[in-house]
Amino acid sequence: MSRPVRIAVLGTAEFARRRMLPAFRASADVTVVTVASRDPARAAELAREYGCRAADDYAEPLADADVDAVYLPLPASMHAEWAGAALRAGKHVLVEKPAAMSGADAAELCALARSRGLALVENVLFLHHSQHRAVMRHVADGAIGRLQAFDAAFTVPRRPASDIRYDPALGGGALWDLGVYPLRAALGLLGPDPRPRLVGATARRDPADRVDTAGTALLDGGDGLALQLSYGLDHTYRSTYTLWGSTGRLTVDRAFTPPADHEPVLRLERAGVTARLSLPADDQAGNAVTAFARAVRTRARPAPEILRQAELLEAISLAGTAVHRTAPPVRDSRTSPADLAG
Ligand SMILES: NC(=O)c1ccc[n+]([C@@H]2O[C@H](COP(=O)([O-])OP(=O)(O)OC[C@H]3O[C@@H](n4cnc5c(N)ncnc54)[C@H](OP(=O)(O)O)[C@@H]3O)[C@@H](O)[C@H]2O)c1
Repeated sequence: MSRPVRIAVLGTAEFARRRMLPAFRASADVTVVTVASRDPARAAELAREYGCRAADDYAEPLADADVDAVYLPLPASMHAEWAGAALRAGKHVLVEKPAAMSGADAAELCALARSRGLALVENVLFLHHSQHRAVMRHVADGAIGRLQAFDAAFTVPRRPASDIRYDPALGGGALWDLGVYPLRAALGLLGPDPRPRLVGATARRDPADRVDTAGTALLDGGDGLALQLSYGLDHTYRSTYTLWGSTGRLTVDRAFTPPADHEPVLRLERAGVTARLSLPADDQAGNAVTAFARAVRTRARPAPEILRQAELLEAISLAGTAVHRTAPPVRDSRTSPADLAG
């Protein structure tokens, strides 16, 4: 396919409006041909802005021969269902993270994509930023000695209560929304082998919440390499990882969602001295769109990390829930002793 990939966007999500639709528009590799919404007025408004067709339901673009691919910025609980429907309809798929909420669903999607020769790509933007390749080059060059531990965190402040992230029926919760990032970073760091093993997890759910708003997971990356992941929806902002070696430590701040004009500065700490390594800005959203178009053109097979990530997220979710069930009430500044007594 030499012409731009014709893409339909299912849902008028805030993230699609803010990040992906502008990135599609800026790319010569894709053309937005349809925007679909449950609300015809919302679809029409966005379609006007992008000069494309409006569809009043998500099924319509799947039956449209002029659509090559769909982008799915839907609530997490709908990702696997609509990705599966699109693949069955012969469409390539760019699906928001997490692609699936269980290992079984991820395995089914990947098998479907493979059997039909269709691209199934999970929209994990940070993978497409050049700063991580620079990090791995420093590590391979021995900048921190033998890697001993990997710490990663993605936490954000609380959003309005109506946000999809606080609704369990929509796949809400800190793990599904944000745990993906540090986990995917750990998987990317390790490469295909060895498979990390889950050691334990915590999850926190306050009485007023219906989902977990904070969590941690500890994984063994093989040979005792510790992978410690933190994620949360009720925190001060943090988006970082540190590679901790026998002779040094390398930290990436703004690891997961740097804007296109951000010029990264890696922190390399060795023998009490901190060096700041400047890197060029990079446009991870633009790069992700280019990579998706390439996956469509080459009919690339789904990345193995889609399945591995889904299996580990499921395991972390079960382990965190088990801890939560047995944990005593948590006391914090918003909980009075009277609340605990009651
Ligand atoms: N890759 C990244 O860096 C990144 C960053 C942020 C968010 N995301 C992902 O993008 C997706 C959307 O997130 P968002 O923050 O943009 O959420 P949002 O604004 O609430 O968008 C979700 C969209 O899903 C559609 N939808 C269908 N059924 C729904 C239901 N029952 N309740 C609510 N919405 C429903 C709605 O579109 P219509 O009403 O128009 O049909 C809505 O606009 C999520 O999967 C999130 O994880 C990814």
